[in-house]
Amino acid sequence: MKDVHTEDAGQFYYHVPWPVAVIAVRWEGKDNAMAAAWHAPISFDPPLYGVSISPKRHTYDLIDKAREFTANFLPLGAAEAIAAVGGSTGRELDKFAEFDLGRDHPLVVGSPILSAAYAAYECVLHDARTYGDHRWFVGRIVAVHYTSRLQAPDGTTDPQAAEPSLYLGAEMYATVAGMTKRHLDRKVYGARRKTG
Ligand SMILES: Cc1cc2nc3c(=O)[nH]c(=O)nc-3n(C[C@H](O)[C@H](O)[C@H](O)COP(=O)(O)O)c2cc1C
Repeated sequence: MKDVHTEDAGQFYYHVPWPVAVIAVRWEGKDNAMAAAWHAPISFDPPLYGVSISPKRHTYDLIDKAREFTANFLPLGAAEAIAAVGGSTGRELDKFAEFDLGRDHPLVVGSPILSAAYAAYECVLHDARTYGDHRWFVGRIVAVHYTSRLQAPDGTTDPQAAEPSLYLGAEMYATVAGMTKRHLDRKVYGARRKTG
């Protein structure tokens, strides 16, 4: 039962665990990466994905110029890489070299795919709009990479196998291993009515 009710948004993002992405960009032959917890799928057709980036980030300038990026999803076991790229700026160092980040080849864009990722999207910049103190960069997904051995028979990612990194806020990370999986068919549940 919720017991706090307030009009103060405060640390509103602390109240939900967010899957965290590593956003990577190549510009003029150099690769950079940053952590992003504020991101989301947006559209099926065309396949669109958005990420919210502060103008303070080097990545902001790089996406503006390169007009592409990749979104990489890492397991909790590789979360140190998330904290490393989220705690340093590409204006001052080569994060791929300093943090020994492995690269896989992209299919379509020039920006790198992180080897440590269990899944990744390649995105071409589709749109960008400023909301408040961040800019919402929308990418059209032009290629997807995933690890088939982490998939359940229905094609979804098995969280207990993939151990996705979730960001809780306050430099805390978690995963969903050990959770109970539930299959709840939206058609069945959407058609359910209170009886009596
Ligand atoms: C877990 C985590 C999540 C983050 N989420 C975001 C985010 O969604 N948007 C953002 O602008 N910065 C976010 N950051 C901060 C950037 O990753 C950080 O400022 C990074 O140093 C920027 O690197 P750059 O200057 O090389 O682009 C996050 C940091 C961490 C550790």
